[in-house]
Amino acid sequence: MCGIIAYIGKQKAVPILLEGLRQLEYRGYDSAGISVIQKEKIITLKAVGKVVELQNKIGERDFSGKIGIAHTRWATHGKPSDKNSHPHGDCEGNIFLVHNGIIENYQELKNILIKKKHKFLSETDSEVLAHLIEDFNKTLNFKKSVLEALKLVRGTYGLAIINKNEPDKIIIARNGSPLILGIGKDEFIVASDASAVVRHTDKVIYLGDNELAEITADDFEISNIKNKIISKKISKLNWTVEESKKGGFSHFMLKEIFQQPEVIGNGLRGRVERFLLEESVPMLGGLRMVEKRLRKIKKIVIVACGTSYYSGLVGEYMLEEYAGIPTEVEYASEFRYRKPILDSSTAVVAISQSGETADTLAAIREAKNKGALTLGIVNVVGSTIARETDAGTHTLSGPEIGVASTKAFTTQLVVLALWTLMLGRQRSMSNVMSKRIAQELKKIPKLIEGILKKSKEIQKIAKKYSSAKDFLYLGRKYNFPIALEGALKIKEISYVHAEGYATGEMKHGPIALIDENFPSIFICPKDSVYEKNISGMQEIKARGGKIIAIATVGDKEIARIADDVIYIPKTLEMLTPFVSVIPLQLFAYYFGVAKGYDVDKPRNLAKSVTVE
Ligand code: M6R
Repeated sequence: MCGIIAYIGKQKAVPILLEGLRQLEYRGYDSAGISVIQKEKIITLKAVGKVVELQNKIGERDFSGKIGIAHTRWATHGKPSDKNSHPHGDCEGNIFLVHNGIIENYQELKNILIKKKHKFLSETDSEVLAHLIEDFNKTLNFKKSVLEALKLVRGTYGLAIINKNEPDKIIIARNGSPLILGIGKDEFIVASDASAVVRHTDKVIYLGDNELAEITADDFEISNIKNKIISKKISKLNWTVEESKKGGFSHFMLKEIFQQPEVIGNGLRGRVERFLLEESVPMLGGLRMVEKRLRKIKKIVIVACGTSYYSGLVGEYMLEEYAGIPTEVEYASEFRYRKPILDSSTAVVAISQSGETADTLAAIREAKNKGALTLGIVNVVGSTIARETDAGTHTLSGPEIGVASTKAFTTQLVVLALWTLMLGRQRSMSNVMSKRIAQELKKIPKLIEGILKKSKEIQKIAKKYSSAKDFLYLGRKYNFPIALEGALKIKEISYVHAEGYATGEMKHGPIALIDENFPSIFICPKDSVYEKNISGMQEIKARGGKIIAIATVGDKEIARIADDVIYIPKTLEMLTPFVSVIPLQLFAYYFGVAKGYDVDKPRNLAKSVTVE
């Protein structure tokens, strides 16, 4: 949600900032802006639309400034426009800042500042910060002014600020919105996520909440909000530059769909093998320190949003059926306001690709306050959720740039399946059962490779239905969450109406929608609920509805009922979501592309939702 980049060093700042903005664009892309300190002046340029618009505005102009800040926006307060774009300035044009997050008490602060004759240009909450700092800067130095201003602020922020009166530095600060300080050779790069830093350095400091850094071209100093200097660990980024490129694919989303055999393999390697041995209870690395507590867990509550929530729903089926632990899955945004009943025998599991989703983070904090064990299933190493949970397992899917989650989902399923084996073995799962599941899990990458080879066939089916304005996605048991995920994918990137339903629920209402123009997508592998799904299909058919079926290879009966069939390979029922979701990802992708949309950056969305 909004991308921030800042540069200070020996090189010209503008090309570095623009490159950084291109990398960060997936975090928000309705407008972009840049401020650079040049010859004791601050030059600011902004443009509505994607980063390329800003680049066009800059054109051939050569900026020599070596200190600058930049921002790509996902609007919260005020529509996308030049005046609402960041960087925002103070009255005199001395102080400029970029902000990610929400200042909740901005109106209150704005009213006070207006009374003090401050002139506001935008409708944003962020501009208030520039004026507030300006106010303190009349009597205090730059750093102290920022500290005093932040004391008055309620809300979340990742901030990078420059000041014409102290033109040799950038100040950055964080509360609730991620900020990374990259430490290069003779230069520092600050960004809201690693993708913009990795080209310059792999040495980073993750700024914590209520921390601020004062950065000059040769040095930096980190303090807390009380102005106490603190020392922080330098971490190593685990991303490569190559991973942040499209690698010959037309979109990141397609690249990420095709990466799934590889990243699922990475998630399994060195982990799944231990369930094939005769060991008593294999433990996954990141959970070892909570092993004893895990044995005593009586209930699991999974908290997550969007696609991560749907992987949690698959996890609920797995954990209850094979580990025998009562499991609930909650929207993180609801959990925190619901007064959940938790104690030390509950494990609250946050599932998050980014590890920065504000609602999921808040849910985990709430769970911690109530004494629950908090665990994370997170992709981004070093992210806030990864750091704040008691223990967890990384999903190892590598950077996911496409706004629509694909490989993040299936690698979350990998971890959920491994946790099921581990928690199951701690309880009553036999060694024979855990071996059987582990053996089948190992085959998943190859099975997905087989489905990906059929992408052209799926593309044809997507084209055939390209005039549809609605879809009903249906599935049962393990594939009910896949129906939800399939519907979310097509909504996100194709802007068509789609609903995911449990097949059994369809006759209680949604069937009223069905006619020849409202196709249904049935996820109907040969599993324990196959017959029930077939009955649902017949009910749709009887009402003239078109059917696309996702079915197990060799199922001839289904071809007689459905209008189109996409076959998936056979696997254990518990593992069918790994293979059934792939055709739905491809279907949504090709459907969106056929409509001419930018599937990597769907309208109104942003990759990482760091506001409530
Ligand atoms: O980073 P997270 O996994 O916490 O993100 C949660 C959702 O915002 C995310 O899954 C979203 O629904 C995706 N755009 C889905 O494709």
